[in-house]
Amino acid sequence: MNTFGTLFTVTTWGESHGAGVGAVVDGCPPRLPIEAAEIQAELDRRRPGQSDIVTPRKEEDRVEILSGLFEGRTAGTPISMLVRNADQRPGAYDEMREKFRPSHADYTYQSKYGIRDHRGGGRSSARETVGRVAAGAIAKKILSLGGQAQHGTPVEIRAYLTQVHDIAAPAEALVAFPSLAEVEATAVRCPHLPTAQKMIERIKAVRSEGDSVGGIIECRVRGVPVGLGAPVFDRLEADLAKAMLSLPATKGFEFGSGFAGAQLRGSEHNDRFESREGRVRTVTNRSGGTQGGISNGEEIVFRVAFKPTATILRPQQTVDIHGAETELIGRGRHDPCVVPRAVPIVEAMVALVLVDHWMRQQAQCGSFRFE
Ligand SMILES: Cc1cc2nc3c(=O)[nH]c(=O)nc-3n(C[C@H](O)[C@H](O)[C@H](O)COP(=O)(O)O)c2cc1C
Repeated sequence: MNTFGTLFTVTTWGESHGAGVGAVVDGCPPRLPIEAAEIQAELDRRRPGQSDIVTPRKEEDRVEILSGLFEGRTAGTPISMLVRNADQRPGAYDEMREKFRPSHADYTYQSKYGIRDHRGGGRSSARETVGRVAAGAIAKKILSLGGQAQHGTPVEIRAYLTQVHDIAAPAEALVAFPSLAEVEATAVRCPHLPTAQKMIERIKAVRSEGDSVGGIIECRVRGVPVGLGAPVFDRLEADLAKAMLSLPATKGFEFGSGFAGAQLRGSEHNDRFESREGRVRTVTNRSGGTQGGISNGEEIVFRVAFKPTATILRPQQTVDIHGAETELIGRGRHDPCVVPRAVPIVEAMVALVLVDHWMRQQAQCGSFRFE
């Protein structure tokens, strides 16, 4: 129930105000060179307090690798990673012990389990995603080195913001595959600088009003080989959708042409095949990199919509655990917009899905060869 993946699996654990959070990665290929610093670099991108538009919670998020590595390489055994929680202020959440925050997980957790760690949202807190990002850093390294070794090209995953509230980057500004430096150039992680500036101003403005906003992340992946995925239940895009909608605060997922594709005719929408660079390519990529649930070697492209942060610092009508109507004013430290910090989390989940599918592809189609 807390494990993701089939052959390459990740189990995350921990709560916002418990001792720590982390992950156990199992099924990792042996002899992969990886250092704690590479995992740390991804965690630093997710870390709270990294800029003046995210939650001010001060967490170093130092990763401790407890097992599974020997002399700088993976040993083929379970890799256990721990990040200790440091900056906890449980008192800030006292009111939420009894009152349900509108649109947060408080009511459903209470109803389901009959017990709830209300401090910082407990298990529903996005601190859980620390474990995913740590695991995703390992998966990214596998895709980078493994892709290069097996196909002559590393797999590159790039997520970035295209929209905050009603401020959207112009589509023509995001045609080229953005570099990591372009994405990381601003705290909001939109590679189109004029839009990024407006997004930052909007986030600051709503925060000063005790309010929040949502936004959209686009993710593109290049270097994915043909053949990852499956025709029916485990379609690659279905598993990516599950990975994305397993993230807190996600409300929408669209793949390739997405909802806009519904307005086109087949003659407008079809991706024509051509022979290019010695292999079958498509001229356009409305399919988004898969056909029939299986990767076709083109860029994988999808978008994820995140809602405005549920906890807002203004009075809201709600109900308490006794069923009485009451008022709640959000306290604690919160992201006025969760989307910039979700970028490395989206990338991590993509990496986990791709490594798992790559290993499944090898297991089924590469283990025995019948010519
Ligand atoms: C990176 C990230 C940071 C988040 N930070 C907050 C936060 O500070 N306050 C909050 O109320 N929700 C935050 N959330 C969202 C909640 O975790 C989420 O809304 C809650 O668990 C309920 O789940 P749901 O919105 O998917 O229904 C964050 C989500 C992400 C991805």
